[in-house]
Amino acid sequence: MKEQLGKIKAEALAEIGNAEQSNTLNDIRIKFLGKKGVLTAILRGMGDLAPEERPVIGEIVNQVRQSIEKALDDRGLTLAAREQQVKLAQETLDIFLPGRSPRMGHAHPLQLVLEEIEDIFLGMGFTIAEGPEVEQDYYNFEALNLPKDHPARDMHDSLYITPEVLLRTHTSPVQIRTMERMHPNPIRIIAPGRVYRRDALDASHSPMFLQLEGLLVDKGVTFGDLKGVLTLFAKKFYGEDRQIRMRPSFFPFTEPSAEVDVSCGCLGKGCRVCKGTGWIEILGAGSVNPIVLKMAGYDPEEVSGFAFGMGIERIAMRKYDINDIRVFYENDQRFLNQF
Ligand code: PHE
Repeated sequence: MKEQLGKIKAEALAEIGNAEQSNTLNDIRIKFLGKKGVLTAILRGMGDLAPEERPVIGEIVNQVRQSIEKALDDRGLTLAAREQQVKLAQETLDIFLPGRSPRMGHAHPLQLVLEEIEDIFLGMGFTIAEGPEVEQDYYNFEALNLPKDHPARDMHDSLYITPEVLLRTHTSPVQIRTMERMHPNPIRIIAPGRVYRRDALDASHSPMFLQLEGLLVDKGVTFGDLKGVLTLFAKKFYGEDRQIRMRPSFFPFTEPSAEVDVSCGCLGKGCRVCKGTGWIEILGAGSVNPIVLKMAGYDPEEVSGFAFGMGIERIAMRKYDINDIRVFYENDQRFLNQF
């Protein structure tokens, strides 16, 4: 019996040593130590032994059981460690792999220019006002001293929705809306926004473009104040070495009216941008026509004001040296990514 036990032990240890997977060890455990296992069978047979032999054999069975258990445990640990290694190697995460960075957007060049201009006027104490793009004829024309038969209406190729409603042709109606809302208080606003004209799209025209309007109304405002504000704007936007000049012009809602030019970066030497003249036209302006003040509820004997309006695309085109207005609206990433 001793001999048999020795064989069982040797057999078990050999099998354990050969096991390459931890679940094989479980089969071996059942085979030798389980309820129907080899060792249990031996224990059952103990009844046939002489009484004095039983404790001796019992002792040996226990030793064999312990040896097998220990071998199973040791081999189990070895295999578990090895399997862990394999698993880790398979599931390796490369934590140094660069992540996928989100694609960053940025402001449109027209927005950049608009914000730069807005900041300059906000710095002078102007606030931002808004008005609707679908506008009443009254605000777009009538209240700006452009009655129905006024020839100056021809300058604006308007897009009408009904006989009394149109897409605003300029931001000047915001002057009227602000005056109606504010009178008799002083006003100092800028009004940026989209405007619409019945123009075919080509390199220098777009049926929709951006303007920025300015309006200041208070006691004792003079044409000199207008010149001062616009000079400051030109120096801040174009550079301290720049100057402005005013040429007589006509707008029904300002009197007197002027076209305002800024001196060119070529400093009068003459270049492609100023076409050799040394000056670049940037905006229209003037003192608010007393007729307009009166229609909007202000007393022209009490207050006076000035207004100006500029086209954002033209200013942006010159700033970034762009010669075709259409690139602003085409959303071509190769163009937009440059800003
Ligand atoms: N509204 C004028 C235009 O669109 C510009 C302007 C605004 C002129 C304010 C004078 C004063 O051409």
